[in-house]
Amino acid sequence: MDGAWVAQNGFVWQDDLQTVSPSIIDAFAPGRRAPLDWDDGARLAPPRTGVGVMREVAVSGLRGSGVEFGAGANAMPIPLDCTVRYADIYTLDELQLHEYEGQTTADLLRPDIIASLDDMSVISDGSVDFIVACHVIEHVSNPIAALTNSWAKLRPGGSLVLVVPEMTRTFDRYRELTTIEHLMEDDAKQEILKVRDGEHFREFYSLAFPTPADQYESLWRQKWAEAYPIHYHTWTYDSFSELIGVLTAPGGRLADAMVWSQPPLDDINECIEFWFALTKPEA
Ligand SMILES: C[S@@+](CC[C@H](N)C(=O)[O-])C[C@H]1O[C@@H](n2cnc3c(N)ncnc32)[C@H](O)[C@@H]1O
Repeated sequence: MDGAWVAQNGFVWQDDLQTVSPSIIDAFAPGRRAPLDWDDGARLAPPRTGVGVMREVAVSGLRGSGVEFGAGANAMPIPLDCTVRYADIYTLDELQLHEYEGQTTADLLRPDIIASLDDMSVISDGSVDFIVACHVIEHVSNPIAALTNSWAKLRPGGSLVLVVPEMTRTFDRYRELTTIEHLMEDDAKQEILKVRDGEHFREFYSLAFPTPADQYESLWRQKWAEAYPIHYHTWTYDSFSELIGVLTAPGGRLADAMVWSQPPLDDINECIEFWFALTKPEA
């Protein structure tokens, strides 16, 4: 929270807010950052002044109750009047063992639901107003299943918000771009998916995380065996837009979705991601 947030939300410093010691803050469970109150105008013409602002704008239209997948130690700034449950493939104890760059384990949110984005059987169809996943869909073995399942869980008028890494700006830049045909084949045939998963581990540990030759074979096989959440697939803003275009076309799995999206910010040092919000028509 900074001076701008305090002023823009109508608070007066020290009349409404008090400074507290770190030990008092540590007594509370980690939560999400408090966002500014962005309106429809901001979604139509986002300020594009920073990644934090873009994440706030991407989720600013959410209402009601929903689930954020893979919040890790960096939950999305979902509006404060929403109710959010957190889901992950790992329990809190397991997450402590998988520290991501730039995140501290003390900030990890405790998942309420243990589930993968591509297998949401624990969530009833038509039961949530939103699903959010920031830097998660690339970790999923079958992204089309993840998108289709998310869609089924949403109530009419509900939204799916995705923040996706732009491959050209991450350690994925030397890997192959995932094609739509590849994803469709993965979704259509379990046997292809299993073989392809192994290929993704081989590629990941040679081109994204180059591994010394003497460790390479055992490492990718071990990580594959434990289904370690590598980046299975890679996208650019254009290739992801193409995928969403196919799925939201008439007759597609996400037909009739209203699509909002924003490409990465120009500054390649500051921004490695792009943003999508897909909204279901009202009944
Ligand atoms: C790269 S971290 C992203 C953390 C945070 N959302 C951020 O943007 O900084 C990926 C998170 O997604 C979780 N995850 C990985 N694969 C997943 C899957 N298939 N379904 C749900 N969560 C997954 C990981 O355990 C981790 O918490």
